[in-house]
Amino acid sequence: MAAAKGGPSPRPGVLDIAPYVPGTSALPGAHAVIKLSSNETPLGPSPRAIEAYVVAAGSLSRYPDGSARTLREAICKMYGLNPGHIVCGAGSDELLNLLAGAYLGPGDEAIYSEHGFLVYKIAIMARGATAVAAPETELTTDVDAILARVTDKTRVVFIANPNNPTGTYIPFDEVKRLRTSLPDEVLLVLDAAYAEYVRRNDYEAGIHLVATTHNTVMTRTFSKIYGLAYLRIGWAYCPAEVADVLNRIRGPFNVSGPAIAAGVAALQDQAWVQRAVEHNELWRARMTDALSAIGLGVTPSAANFLLLHFTTGNGKSAPEADKFLHDKRIILRRVAEYGFPNALRMTIGTEEDNRAVLDALTTFMGANGSSRR
Ligand SMILES: Cc1ncc(COP(=O)(O)O)c(C=O)c1O
Repeated sequence: MAAAKGGPSPRPGVLDIAPYVPGTSALPGAHAVIKLSSNETPLGPSPRAIEAYVVAAGSLSRYPDGSARTLREAICKMYGLNPGHIVCGAGSDELLNLLAGAYLGPGDEAIYSEHGFLVYKIAIMARGATAVAAPETELTTDVDAILARVTDKTRVVFIANPNNPTGTYIPFDEVKRLRTSLPDEVLLVLDAAYAEYVRRNDYEAGIHLVATTHNTVMTRTFSKIYGLAYLRIGWAYCPAEVADVLNRIRGPFNVSGPAIAAGVAALQDQAWVQRAVEHNELWRARMTDALSAIGLGVTPSAANFLLLHFTTGNGKSAPEADKFLHDKRIILRRVAEYGFPNALRMTIGTEEDNRAVLDALTTFMGANGSSRR
């Protein structure tokens, strides 16, 4: 689409951006669907968060605290951080966009991983900068490939760890090697949206690295394990100078009052988070095994979703599977725009939903035997 003749035109490059297409959330017809397309938690939010949200409804005519102080303090209490280094946003998407807006402009380059979260590419291109994709190795971020693409124009490197949609992660030693090998003036953005789900000894979200460098930022979200995607809450842990920069350009009231209240309450219910981790550990392993056993390729995941690889030419491709699942009112995520035309991403759901997917895909793949495990 081009700008209207004689009307306002966006900056060069904006119309080259392919709009982000969220996971399908509904199907035609009135029957309920099983929606496992957006990596939302099957447990929902903590009841304490819902209660805080309801109480906040009594103050809807007021502006919220523009600095989200209570939320920043609750985050800092939990992780032992300094509130001056935290900036909250309307989802981590907003923070990723603010970082791009502050540190990128025309002529600059930013690197992201080949199958990395698509918001990076959009945020980079929206600033007129060049998005440089670094190839992955075994669907995993490749530090050497990123380093090989650094030029004197590189300003920012974005990595999601674990990454969406692959679910793969790189060990903290590799993250540190990336940081040490990048030029000092390059900002490293560690997107740790799924950090709470990772149970690996060699993984760290990046708090220590942010605390000990002046050029690393970690972003986090309440949309995944905390079950508050509808409210849009994210946070960034930054060097003080970067926090100052973000605070200059963000909207003055970018996080709503109900979101602040629900976020604080959600953080206080770590037992709820633990339940979500345990459910995920159990069902991610079961689904990985069971889906592999019916002939699907399953990328080993450290997060709350699985990337499922189909085959072509035998009626068992990902688009065909997607259609088959829709007929059974199951929605997974097409990931063609991530470079996976023949894969679907499945969020780990409730036991009932997981079994429904497994039964449906077992039928689709023509495998014999029961899927009950
Ligand atoms: C890797 C990654 N980062 C960031 C986000 C954005 O999350 P939110 O804006 O809801 O905080 C997502 C959501 O899917 C994601 O997968």
